[in-house]
Amino acid sequence: MKALEIKKNVYWVGGIDWTLRNFHGYSTKSGSSYNAYLILGEKKILIDTVKEYLFDEMLSRIESVCDPASIDIIVSNHTEMDHSGSIEKLCRIAKNAVVMASPNGEKGLKKHFFGDLNIKPVASGETLDCSDHKLQFFHMPMVHWPDSMATYCPEKKILFPNDAFGQHIASTERYDDEMDFGFVKQEATKYYANIVLPYGSQVNAALGALGGLDFDIIAPSHGLIWRKHIPEILALYKKWSDNETENRGVIVYDSMWHSTERIAYALYDAFCEKKIFAELSDLKTNDISDLMTKILEARYIFVGSPTLNNGMLPTVGGFLTYLKGLAPKKRVGMAFGSYGWGGQSIGQIETVLKDSGFAMLDSIKVQYVPDKAVLKGITERVTKLL
Ligand code: FEO
Repeated sequence: MKALEIKKNVYWVGGIDWTLRNFHGYSTKSGSSYNAYLILGEKKILIDTVKEYLFDEMLSRIESVCDPASIDIIVSNHTEMDHSGSIEKLCRIAKNAVVMASPNGEKGLKKHFFGDLNIKPVASGETLDCSDHKLQFFHMPMVHWPDSMATYCPEKKILFPNDAFGQHIASTERYDDEMDFGFVKQEATKYYANIVLPYGSQVNAALGALGGLDFDIIAPSHGLIWRKHIPEILALYKKWSDNETENRGVIVYDSMWHSTERIAYALYDAFCEKKIFAELSDLKTNDISDLMTKILEARYIFVGSPTLNNGMLPTVGGFLTYLKGLAPKKRVGMAFGSYGWGGQSIGQIETVLKDSGFAMLDSIKVQYVPDKAVLKGITERVTKLL
């Protein structure tokens, strides 16, 4: 397999994960790639590696342009093993290579690989002068691990931000302008919603630090390389990290005998009455990581479950656990559901949404089956609240 030159003497040497369909719970219907980049000059510099099982693919791409044993520097922008997983193997070949990482990256690498990696910690803002190339390092703590950093090469005007600006896409195409932008944007949105969303303030800080740099390529560690739609992706990250929402709703529910589902449809009618875009998402048929993509820009998040064994349905419980962890901000929530005798599920949902910082509308709780009059009343009441 060959390296791809993305700028003179800078090569993409990553691995493509065509069959990946689940990345720790995030559904990756389009697979992914782990992007490693090789800069050839006075020093041979590799920026990040690939998952361990794609080591041979990365190695063959490196071998197409240089002897891997001659690599001098391996920059580890992030310890998570989709990027660090091949460092140890590569260091057995590139025996003199120095691994450069943030101080947290150094700690993380030692706790992952236990071996004798030659690691040099770098400070934020520090510049490594390799004569013909300089590398500047910017720590980006919690975007999305404590060790995360970006590397900038001013001579090539390339920013290597690791996970930031990534998308889980396996493809032969390498650049954002080689695929439909709507698709790339959708995957970048899903990536932010499921990986980066909890860290808006840290993203904002990183955008501030990186915003003044002069780059015409953003080379992330997953998916396509940004060279055309850089203003768009930067603007989207700014919008998302500011927790800006649109006037739209997502109604998430599961149902046992369709009563909670009927309430969900009555709520949907309220959005339609106000001509507010809304989506109905039954958890029986919707993947929670796809739901997060819808939720990322939605102001209204309504969640419903009937009561089962004094609690909510397990699908709703799983969804709420995921939602709470990703912590979307500036949202309006509502709990709803049907019940037979206990009715605890609605209060439990309300508690989770409240604890997540949502501004709550009054809950809707219906015993057994809502009739037409009850459903009409729900639609009328909620229409007034939107
Ligand atoms: Fe792509 Fe946080 O690893």
